[in-house]
Amino acid sequence: MTAILETKGLGKSFGRFAANADIDFSVAQGELRAVIGPNGAGKTTFFNMLSGTTDVTSGAIFFKGCDITRLSGTRRVHLGIAKAFQTANIYPEQTVLQNCRLAALAHTQGAFALEVFRRSDRLTDVDALAERAIEQLELSGVAGVRSGDLAHGDKKRLDIAIALATKPEILLLDEPVAGMSRDEARKTEALIRKLASSMTVLIIEHDMDLIMGISDSITVLESGSVLANGTPAEIRANGRVQDAYLGGHSEAEIES
Ligand SMILES: Nc1ncnc2c1ncn2[C@@H]1O[C@H](COP(=O)(O)OP(=O)(O)O)[C@@H](O)[C@H]1O
Ligand SMILES: [Mg+2]
Repeated sequence: MTAILETKGLGKSFGRFAANADIDFSVAQGELRAVIGPNGAGKTTFFNMLSGTTDVTSGAIFFKGCDITRLSGTRRVHLGIAKAFQTANIYPEQTVLQNCRLAALAHTQGAFALEVFRRSDRLTDVDALAERAIEQLELSGVAGVRSGDLAHGDKKRLDIAIALATKPEILLLDEPVAGMSRDEARKTEALIRKLASSMTVLIIEHDMDLIMGISDSITVLESGSVLANGTPAEIRANGRVQDAYLGGHSEAEIES
């Protein structure tokens, strides 16, 4: 299988503190990969470097073999890398549809930058992308609702819809079911599983039932470094993972 996204020796330091160190990582096209680890392990920092939200201290990131380490987040969105931003990307005054249209516009503006005269094509494209993202996340019933007024679960799914409206090849989800009720979490799990049949998905989640149920493979981070890679069965049976992760796992269960 070809790697769609790879990192070599990736590191991020905040002052003297290494939040990520020497991460070698490779995900194959079409794979659904979970990234797990105790709170503070560096999972979000890692995703932020992949999406270009945070710059890199050391090492390199490759998308389909091309070095993207120094590319802006916007350029990465145009290449097809999207991250759901834990509601930080939502404009609360705008409706669900408007939020998704804005995201789709960000995508098509990149793709059509040299075709300013094809504006009408572009607008059709924007609508189609936004509507499809809303349908895929089952938000059609609230498409006209002001995003700030959405219930928590819908807001979390809008977050994913916004990422999806940029037409990604690889989708990064940071704790997509955090704070959801069990029913909502299972519903969202089914939606993520469906999305994963047509794109590569990287997911950070504390919900172990979800992770073990949907992942092709799992990367475990601990103290900013990779502790293990493997299938769900391999990770479950790994003694080092059990030792290191027990603390974080029970902490997460208390939170949820
Ligand atoms: N902007 C920042 N400045 C300083 N320290 C940070 C910053 N972002 C994250 N950290 C630290 O890096 C570590 C990893 O954080 P994070 O990537 O959020 O972990 P996780 O998502 O696995 O819980 C934590 O100790 C956190 O306090
Ligand atoms: Mg985090």
